[in-house]
Amino acid sequence: MGITNELIAAATEAREKAYAPYSRFPVGAALLTTEGEIYRGANMENISSGLTICAERVAAYTAIMNGSYHFTTLAVVGDSYQPVFPCGACRQVLWELAGEIEVIAANLQDDLLTVPLNTLLPHPFSPASLTSPRQYFHQE
Ligand code: THU
Repeated sequence: MGITNELIAAATEAREKAYAPYSRFPVGAALLTTEGEIYRGANMENISSGLTICAERVAAYTAIMNGSYHFTTLAVVGDSYQPVFPCGACRQVLWELAGEIEVIAANLQDDLLTVPLNTLLPHPFSPASLTSPRQYFHQE
């Protein structure tokens, strides 16, 4: 099995662990490290909807919790007509924690699209965004 299929299989398996009683839209994610390890995540919903965490963030935070910081590829799987792409919030978090990865958007019918994360979030809010010309005047 190639690594793409392996990641999609891992994300599909992770999807089974989703806690999605409100949307009934379980999503699975699998994040591949440069060392070849795979970290899985599934969406975790809450009755207070804003507290829901997407599959991608669960996978990324699990990786960091386990001491992995370098990644190459993320696969996302949902039962959708279109391949499932990370939401905007996850794009920002993935950019910060995983950087220049490839994103495999997939569904249960084996449709898939692979794109670099930087095409999904071309102008991220970054540490550089926090610097302004005026801050230098304030330091005086
Ligand atoms: N969801 C994810 O887990 N990842 C995505 O990329 C899109 C959306 C979840 C959030 C919520 O639990 C459900 O899918 C419906 O929006």
